Amino acid sequence: MHRHLRRICLLLAVASSCGTSSALAADASHGGDLAKRWCASCHVVASGQAQASADVPSFASVARRPDFSSERLAFFLLDPHPKMPNFPLSRTEAGDIAAYIGSLRP
Ligand code: HEC
Repeated sequence: MHRHLRRICLLLAVASSCGTSSALAADASHGGDLAKRWCASCHVVASGQAQASADVPSFASVARRPDFSSERLAFFLLDPHPKMPNFPLSRTEAGDIAAYIGSLRP
């Protein structure tokens, strides 16, 4: 019984965070909070923040890229690149942060 319930939760979690629905279901303001907590030491996360690290792209500049996609970004965040510390982001958190960065798009 217990195992069965876990399986259903897993299925729901996957279903609610795949495809285009992730962008709609994601919580950009929660993502903004997460970004300020975890990313602001290196990235300029919000306008008005003093420069973080000079060679790190600001989230606004990431959002302005013509090929920006919050889905792609969420997947990128689940698999951090070498210069970034390994964040224990859940799929939901990655989706929320991606939605926040997407909200910076002009
Ligand atoms: C320890 C510093 C550091 C922290 C903390 C950090 N990053 Fe980064 N991030 C970098 C650096 C450095 C780059 C540029 C890496 C490169 O060009 O390879 C980067 C690049 C990126 C990029 C752009 C990749 C691209 O396509 O150019 C995104 C998006 C990003 N980080 C998101 C995040 C998010 C979201 C967080 C918080 C969860 C975060 N980063 C936290 C250092 C950091």
